[in-house]
Formats: sequence, structure tokens, C-alpha cells
Amino acid sequence: MLFKFLKSSHVKSGEITPENIYLGRREFIQDTARIGAGVAAVATLGLTPSPAQAEVRALDNIIRDGAFGTDEKQTSYRAVTEYNNFYEFGTDKSDPARNAHSLRPRPWTVKIDGHVDNPGDYDIDDLIKPHMLQERVYRMRCVEAWSMVIPWVGIPLAQIIKKLGPTSQAKYVRFETLVDQKQMPGQSRRVIKWPYAEGLRMDEAMNPLTLMAVGLYGKELPNQNGAPMRLVVPWKYGFKGIKSIVRISFVDRMPSNSWKRLAPHEYGFYANVNPEVDHPRWTQANERRIGEFRRRKTLMFNGYSEEVAHMYSGMNLKKYF
Ligand code: MTE
Repeated sequence: MLFKFLKSSHVKSGEITPENIYLGRREFIQDTARIGAGVAAVATLGLTPSPAQAEVRALDNIIRDGAFGTDEKQTSYRAVTEYNNFYEFGTDKSDPARNAHSLRPRPWTVKIDGHVDNPGDYDIDDLIKPHMLQERVYRMRCVEAWSMVIPWVGIPLAQIIKKLGPTSQAKYVRFETLVDQKQMPGQSRRVIKWPYAEGLRMDEAMNPLTLMAVGLYGKELPNQNGAPMRLVVPWKYGFKGIKSIVRISFVDRMPSNSWKRLAPHEYGFYANVNPEVDHPRWTQANERRIGEFRRRKTLMFNGYSEEVAHMYSGMNLKKYF
């Protein structure tokens, strides 16, 4: 993400990821395609050695029923876990993998409050039981116009919400990330007003596609991907996918979200993937799938119209971007 009113000294080159920068500097994610000869892509291993990745546990008994799945090629584990946005650990794409070892994902308490029958401080392991875990392979689309296909592991957010029992006054759900400079050194810079916060309308939160993820590729979430739990909303731009969540509040008004608060003319609350609504500084009509050479056309709702379009019928999606 890039916001233009930052001083250039505060912004590192990885934030906006124009093609030439990330192709030049992120060699490890290249697949080279020989278009003329029509020869399939050859994956090239990068010049940059992988930073030592912290060990993550394999998760057992995951339900793999293929629900909402895609058979598109999955993005490599390495790219998924080394090319990240997580400003609590730095603003360059490679910072989270390098710096997130200081995050301690256990013990982890999540505060539940607002208009809900069962508020309180919950241990994550009481909120999400291992036998509930499902795999969901989702297309993900970042507002910066790159995309990935990721096999997430988690549980539908609706299952958590039903247990918590929101009251009829709960119209939106607000999420908050941990604030702790010792664990999240990037919080010493006020690039964002901490905590990182996001929100969903109640029907969006209850949609069967919406996942609370605790893992990917059959393993626990690496810290840089938002351990121990993060939101995954595949029809919206990636910034809705708030990481390392410590608070879930049921509220009656639309909550503010970090990127909208920072640049309201550039980032909205809904953030639905929409090829017809360009970002003020770049097109959203196409995207680069990480690992591919040729750009792809971006699909409405990131290809999930069947599951989600009904929630926005009658809304002007140019106004509510
Ligand atoms: N959550 C927090 N707490 N802090 C962040 O900086 N970045 C967001 C989102 N969640 C972010 C966050 C953005 S801009 C994107 S694109 C996704 O995380 C990236 O998720 P990934 O690194 O797992 O691909």
C-alpha cells in the first residue's frame, strides 16, 4: 500500500510494487514464461536466499471437502510467506518474513465485546477447536493489483459468531490487531494509527466464504501471515484481511478501517474487488498473479459473484467502493 502524503523518506520501494521493481527485486517469485514459443513457464529459483523461516507445526485432521475451491495453480509457499504486507513489522514486502519472529502467537487472548450475548476474554484455543478446521483454496487479490492462490486453513467466521450470539443491535463486526511494540517493532513508526482495524457488515461476516484462518498449506500460520488468527475475505481487496486479531466487537455503526482512515479518497470500507472502479492512481482492471508473466483480467468480486453479489444488489458500487 502506498499513501502519497507520506514523506518519501518514510516509504520504502516495496510498498506500491510497480512491475519493474518487483520483477527486479523479487526474483524468487518469478516464473518465466516464453510466450512466443508457447512453452510453459519455468520456475526459476531466485538469487536471494530464503530468510530462515521459523518452524510452524503441521495441522491435523483438516477437512478437505473442496468447498468453494479453485483448481488454479497455487502460489508457492515461499512467495505466500515471504512477500507480505504487515506494517507492524515494516513497510517493505520482505520485512514481515524477516522481522515477525518476535511475535508470540501463544498464549493468545481475544476480547469479545459490544452487542453480544457472550462477551469476554477468550483463549484462542477455546474459540477455534482443531476438529473444526477446513481447507479453503481461495484466489486473493491485493489492492496493489497483484494476486495469489492460497490454500488457507481455518473455520468459517459465521461459526464463531453464532457461538458468541450477537444481538439484533449488532450490524457490523469490528476487528483489531495486537498493539505491542516489543512484539511488533514496526509499531514504533506511526505509518498507521495503531491498532490496525478492519470491519465487515454483519451479512458479510456471516457469508460462508468468510474465513477466520489459523493456517495455510496445511500448517499453522507463519507469524508474517497473521498468526495466530487472521481474517480472509476473498472477494475483497487484501487489506480487509486483518492479521493477528486480539479483539472482535459487535457494533451498531459502520466502524472505521485503517486504510480508509488514512486515505478515504483511495480506500473504502467495502473494498470489493471491482475491475470497474480504478484506484485513483492505477487501474484495477487487471492484475499480476504472482508467479505469472502475463497480466490477467480482474474479475468482479474476484470471481466470487455467485456467492456474494446478492449482498450488494441495489447498491451503487462506484460510490460504495
Ligand atoms: N493486517 C495488519 N494487522 N497489518 C497490515 O499491515 N496488511 C493488509 C492485510 N492485513 C495488514 C494486515 C494487506 S494490505 C494485505 S494485502 C494483506 O494483509 C496481506 O496478507 P499476506 O501478507 O498474508 O498476503
